[in-house]
Amino acid sequence: MPAVQKIAPGRLYIGGQWVDALAGGTFPTINPATEETLTRAAEGRAEDIDRAAVAARKAFEEGPWAKLSGSDRGRILWKIGDLLEARVAEVAEIETLDSGKTITESLRVDVPMAADCFRYFAGWASKIEGETVPVRAPFFNYTLREPLGVVGQIIPWNFPILLAAWKVAPALAAGNTIVLKPAEQTPLSALRLAQIAEEAGLPPGVLNVVTGFGPTAGGALVDHPGVDKIAFTGSTSVGQEIMRRASGTLKRLTLELGGKSPNIVFADADLDAAVRGAGNAIFYNKGEVCTAGSRLFVEDALHDTFLDKLSAFTAKLQQGDPLDPKTRLGPQVSEAQMARVLSFVDKGKGEGARLVLGGERAPGKGYFVRPTIFDGVRNDMTIAREEIFGPVLSVLRFREIDEVVRLANDTPYGLAAAVWTKDIKKAHRAARLLRAGTVWINTYGLYDSAMPFGGYKMSGFGRELGHHGLMEYTQTKSVWVDLS
Ligand code: NAI
Ligand code: MG
Repeated sequence: MPAVQKIAPGRLYIGGQWVDALAGGTFPTINPATEETLTRAAEGRAEDIDRAAVAARKAFEEGPWAKLSGSDRGRILWKIGDLLEARVAEVAEIETLDSGKTITESLRVDVPMAADCFRYFAGWASKIEGETVPVRAPFFNYTLREPLGVVGQIIPWNFPILLAAWKVAPALAAGNTIVLKPAEQTPLSALRLAQIAEEAGLPPGVLNVVTGFGPTAGGALVDHPGVDKIAFTGSTSVGQEIMRRASGTLKRLTLELGGKSPNIVFADADLDAAVRGAGNAIFYNKGEVCTAGSRLFVEDALHDTFLDKLSAFTAKLQQGDPLDPKTRLGPQVSEAQMARVLSFVDKGKGEGARLVLGGERAPGKGYFVRPTIFDGVRNDMTIAREEIFGPVLSVLRFREIDEVVRLANDTPYGLAAAVWTKDIKKAHRAARLLRAGTVWINTYGLYDSAMPFGGYKMSGFGRELGHHGLMEYTQTKSVWVDLS
């Protein structure tokens, strides 16, 4: 495993140095396809978070970073993008070994999109502007868009390098410094990103990476008085806890939380495109996607045909070694996650949904769950209400648009939704009525560095990516001048 050995084993990246955790602890990171330990990561705790926050503060206030022009910051960000692209094979291998996502996805999507994200925000770094404000005479008022300071970023394990890019790139473009806490299941690619950032010329202390567990390392970041903002992606319950705890220091927050996204297929949809779209919406990245199309609503007249075709599509998805370019479905990220997914399968059976396909662990090594389809699901069943975060699809029926919009919106979540129809009015009407931060029409799961992404309702608040995402890392200052 040459790529993995390039990661400084068992070290944190603080103030531009690779250091041991102060308490000296380490933890294993597992390859979920083989159940073997890949390597060990340092177990950062409160005292390490403190060191990182102090280093980030110093870099923000005193370091060369604070004096760089936007254009110079942009140059470094662009270089990070270039280096990620140049190392795509190696970073993709690390990502696949650590998370179980397929090498095809890592190579074609996660790493290239992470590189693109750095380039996108590189362009913004020199374009963060204030305004002149027409106030009463004889005064002049203008605004400055300033960085927040030190930002704490906590990311999950489903898109480790990509979500690191979504958080790190805009924060740096706006001139902040960072303490990044990757998920304990997938710590490796964030460490590789720190090496790449250093190589690209990012000054010491601007990006610090502290690996460790949620309640200890993550919790300490949330509590730390020297951290100005927390940007979090993960479960809704941890998001709620972060919101409660952040009130102690009134930290700024952006929270990207769970979803239970409705994918709505009308009878007049392009059938083959909708079948492929519905399959990919739930089985992409083995269902470990916050925007997974986990509730599939099919119009009554199309239901039986659609289910047959979707079952055939799903049965053909190759499951197995994620390093094999032909594999479409890898293992769940961890044993715990696999157990969680299978417990939802049991609930689905227990509550009377009809299991059409899958519903069990695949034999042999690795945390593989067979792609699973439940038909006859009611919107009040557990499998239609709770985020499963695995390859488990709930199929529901509907008769007309108002009914399906009501059912689709009957969820605490509001991250994404999709509609499939050839009727342009129906498509745009549904797009307006659906209470979700992203709506796809005749497609699913599209992202771009330029789009604003985020949740309605209990899927969180704040936006990532695009100009909206950049602004979340800035604050506005009003400056008054007496011209009399
Ligand atoms: P999680 O929310 O516990 O973990 C996400 C990140 O938060 C990790 O870096 C973790 O170390 C950190 N964290 C955990 N507890 C924390 C705390 N008290 N303070 C600060 N940081 C903390 O998610 P978990 O347990 O790994 O997965 C459980 C479920 O959460 C999944 O089945 C899925 O439903 C949901 N989830 C949703 C994600 C999304 O993208 N919306 C991503 C990951 C999980
Ligand atoms: Mg791992």
